[in-house]
Amino acid sequence: MSDDGMEGSPPGALSEVERYEIHFPDGTDHDQDQEWCEVQVDGDARRIRFHDYAEIYALPGLYEQIFYEGLKCDSPRMVAELLCEHLRNTGRHSSDLTVLDVGAGNGMVGERLQSLGVTTIVGVDIIEAAAEATERDRPGVYDDYLVLDLTDIPPAARRALEARRFNCLITVAALGFGDIPPEAFVAAYNLVEPGGLIAFTIKEDFIARDESSGFSRLVRRALDDGTMELGAKHRYRHRLSIDGEPLHYVAMVAEKHRDLPLA
Ligand SMILES: C[S@@+](CC[C@H](N)C(=O)[O-])C[C@H]1O[C@@H](n2cnc3c(N)ncnc32)[C@H](O)[C@@H]1O
Repeated sequence: MSDDGMEGSPPGALSEVERYEIHFPDGTDHDQDQEWCEVQVDGDARRIRFHDYAEIYALPGLYEQIFYEGLKCDSPRMVAELLCEHLRNTGRHSSDLTVLDVGAGNGMVGERLQSLGVTTIVGVDIIEAAAEATERDRPGVYDDYLVLDLTDIPPAARRALEARRFNCLITVAALGFGDIPPEAFVAAYNLVEPGGLIAFTIKEDFIARDESSGFSRLVRRALDDGTMELGAKHRYRHRLSIDGEPLHYVAMVAEKHRDLPLA
């Protein structure tokens, strides 16, 4: 895949929303999970950490303005296109997918999938503010959107999710960094039927051999022992850091052969 044209305007029907005055702090050495910016809200300068998703989603268009316009985020497009390219190469169709979007946020990945012909998408996120922002900004993208902790799925929600018989899991910019832990990824993976596709992005450091978050071991072992089979892989620039440096992620599409062990 080419990286050309990755910095488009953000998708979404948010052209009418308020524009925010955003200031990114100067200096270097901001850890990615400590990054923040200052936003003018109703005349006050508010410092917002990038991981304060609830605060960001509560302001319509702010997520898009910070990450897509300001920091040139490209992950939803990249992984959705890698997935579609894999579908084409294997003679499958996007309209056949029943997708579980984990860490769905305010719906940008679902919207991208919908524009590529996917018709059945269920979103899951751990915070209510994500579901509310999706309903506010992208109504109609998801067939259902559940707010839950995947490591502790309530029985009724589990039944509803299992009844979907997902043949695709997608998770974009949500693994690691105190977001989705390996156990939650395993729980989501195990909701997909054998033969289904697993599409995800992850910071390249998190799948390096000596990495300790657990994803490196999990993914490597699953690929080595045939639990899943790699279909496509692409290293790309996820976005810029607030210092303007490229943050590289890896997008993968794999075919699931069997469940991952829960432990
Ligand atoms: C950086 S956002 C990405 C949102 C969306 N995938 C996108 O690409 O625009 C990460 C999302 O993961 C969600 N998240 C964090 N931990 C989670 C968990 N344990 N289970 C489900 N979602 C989680 C956050 O609430 C947030 O909405």
